[in-house]
Amino acid sequence: MQGIQIIGMGKALPARRVENEAFTQMVETSDEWIKSRTGIQSRYFCKEERQMDLCAEAARKALANAGVCPEEIGLCVVATITPDYHTPSSACMVQKLLGLPEDIPAFDINAACSGFVYGLEVVSCMLGSDALKRPYALLIGAEKLSRIMNFQDRSTCVLFGDGAAAAVIRPSDAHRFFCRLGSQGNAEALNAPGAGYPEPYIHMDGRKVFQFAVHAMENGIRLLAKETGVSLDEVDQFICHQANERIIRHVQKKLKLPAERFFMNLDQYGNTSGASIPIAMAELMEKGQLKPGTKAFCLGFGGGLTWGAAYLEF
Ligand code: COA
Repeated sequence: MQGIQIIGMGKALPARRVENEAFTQMVETSDEWIKSRTGIQSRYFCKEERQMDLCAEAARKALANAGVCPEEIGLCVVATITPDYHTPSSACMVQKLLGLPEDIPAFDINAACSGFVYGLEVVSCMLGSDALKRPYALLIGAEKLSRIMNFQDRSTCVLFGDGAAAAVIRPSDAHRFFCRLGSQGNAEALNAPGAGYPEPYIHMDGRKVFQFAVHAMENGIRLLAKETGVSLDEVDQFICHQANERIIRHVQKKLKLPAERFFMNLDQYGNTSGASIPIAMAELMEKGQLKPGTKAFCLGFGGGLTWGAAYLEF
């Protein structure tokens, strides 16, 4: 089966960085509580920036790093739960801002923090289709979560951040790709009602989501190893959704794997939902840790409740 190759990535963050200390002015919390329960130290929030601006900046960097022109893009997908508009989609706005061709599909995916992994599967399927006239796909994970956060709810407002990252992807016979996705309709553990509903903010039962997360991650890793035949020792990078250091550490220890193979940057960005996995991937790429031959497992989980597990070769 044809695989895919990520040939360039780029990330974009809003200019405003907010430290834990700032939340002590809004709710009863402390830097110590936030750090010890989550691992988060700071995050970025948009001020003037629109979500589409973050998308466009990340996409421009990814295209430059890949050496690909906007005219060569055959598919544009954005994984997000915080588009600027219900319609047009963020993908259509990226198309406009970057001047992508007009005879290509452009659409958003709503799978919350699993969105980028869902996007990888969608892109891998579509890149094999005759319907695409050009060889490259642009897949972006982007969020402006500060727009749907309740800054009077201490159990959620300290957790999230804004940001975006983009990947330029092409089909490749030399790079295996394998993905499994799942969901269980559940609005009790995590939801964010749409505009016009009362309290259109993120509501979450943190403990329920924590339990779901550790199971989804552990099961996803075991499933990928079984189905791909790639043993856990062979995996160079476990690129996990960056929600909480304790979730990642729990899974890493349960599977008795070395901590250094579980990249973490949530201390700087908080939970950026659909943007968290691609931001982590973009940073690993910047650091030269996704070299040719690198094998990675990507694990996403989040609202839906959804989960996604993908095997990628670089
Ligand atoms: N500052 C201080 N205290 C806080 C707080 C904050 N920001 N947020 C919650 N608390 C309090 C709670 O009110 C509770 O107080 P109580 O015992 O008097 O009722 C206490 O801290 C413990 O709350 P609990 O929810 O049990 O904490 P926890 O150890 O489970 O950590 C989360 C809370 C949210 C950090 C954790 O459950 C988590 O990370 N869950 C997963 C969330 C996630 O990943 N969401 C995104 C999905 S993609």
